Amino acid sequence: MVAFTLSLLLASLAVSTSATPTPEITAAPKAEVVKRATSCTFSGSTGAASASKSATSCATIVLNNVAVPSGTTLDLSGLADDTTVIFQGTTTWGYKEWAGPLLSIGGKGIKVSGASGHVLNGDGARWWDGEGSNGGKTKPKFFAAHSLTGGSTITNLNIKNTPVQAISIAGCDSLTITGMTIDDSDGDSGSLGHNTDGFDIGTSNNIVIDGAKVYNQDDCVAINSGTHKSITFQNGLCSGGHGLSIGSVGGRSDNTVDTVTFYNNQVTKSVNGIRIKASVGDTGTINKVTYNKITLSSISKYGILIEQNYDGGDLKGTAGTGIPITALTIENITGTGAVSSSGYDVVVTCGSSSSCTGWTWSNVSVTGGKTYGSCTNVPSVTKCS
Ligand SMILES: *[C@@H]1O[C@H](CO)[C@@H](O)[C@H](O)[C@H]1NC(C)=O
Ligand SMILES: *[C@@H]1O[C@H](CO)[C@@H](O)[C@H](O)[C@H]1NC(C)=O
Repeated sequence: MVAFTLSLLLASLAVSTSATPTPEITAAPKAEVVKRATSCTFSGSTGAASASKSATSCATIVLNNVAVPSGTTLDLSGLADDTTVIFQGTTTWGYKEWAGPLLSIGGKGIKVSGASGHVLNGDGARWWDGEGSNGGKTKPKFFAAHSLTGGSTITNLNIKNTPVQAISIAGCDSLTITGMTIDDSDGDSGSLGHNTDGFDIGTSNNIVIDGAKVYNQDDCVAINSGTHKSITFQNGLCSGGHGLSIGSVGGRSDNTVDTVTFYNNQVTKSVNGIRIKASVGDTGTINKVTYNKITLSSISKYGILIEQNYDGGDLKGTAGTGIPITALTIENITGTGAVSSSGYDVVVTCGSSSSCTGWTWSNVSVTGGKTYGSCTNVPSVTKCS
């Protein structure tokens, strides 16, 4: 064998008589362009400030049992492209009345995840007074997921007890959030948790939120301002809150909601199942919104509510026509007996027959509640029931 190999080598040398030895044989391994090879771990009460300071020099940032001082943001808003952020252990925040956010992450191609057993614990009970963002203590918003772009991902984050709204998604393009849990269910006791929205989405495109579990006291998802293109919320569970919402739309600088899909979600123990809120007197667009395969149970007020007379509250005054709801699809909705006997199954208020057009409505079973007596201009494919 050795002899055979040697003879082959000799043969090849013989063939390439005048050639210099091939560089592949002698060259050292190609030098990699070493760029931010570092993995940096930050811990304890100085961890947040150190992490913010080092944000651009670490390829991987591990936040291990970080205790963020009161009144400060765990600020990772200016990360270098393709940074990985990993939460380990318990992340906590000191107490202060302020607007927050407690956590901010932004950048291009960012990969955020939580290690097994980790929790981001807002300990919201310190602020909860039943008034949310309407009064009482000033409560910090939790997580500003702003300007995350270029295929950024947030995977398996476990968030507990946010003081008020949990996740704000704004200015994002191409962001996928998978397997996030937001558990504010402790706020149910004494009705102290309030305005604890799960996901508030503003001015963002190409967003997928997959497999989220939200236990809270306000909208599970609210797609509520700005221009939106292609937002999908799928395989989720919403419990305890106000359901899957579009809006309120209107009265902001951008008022376009276009191509939003809610697919294969469960809404339970909630005030509403499905709700689309167009603000009366304003202008805007709600186009191509699809709710498909939604299961409703234990809904106290509205199984499905689609209104063009939202005015800081549901069903106020005469519905307007300034925000047409077009190409709406409500299909495969399971909610037999889902609505409480004091609630309403399906409520639709349109300003005119031309402000709600191109609707598809099929295989919808939402029952248990009363019939609402004041629906207006209901498209013929559906009925107020
Ligand atoms: C109606 O919707 C349910 C729930 O999504 C689904 O299982 C069923 O196949 C649908 N029926 C038809 C005829 O599409
Ligand atoms: C409703 O379910 C049926 C049966 O699974 C499916 O063919 C149809 O595409 C669904 N509707 C929508 C809007 O996806």
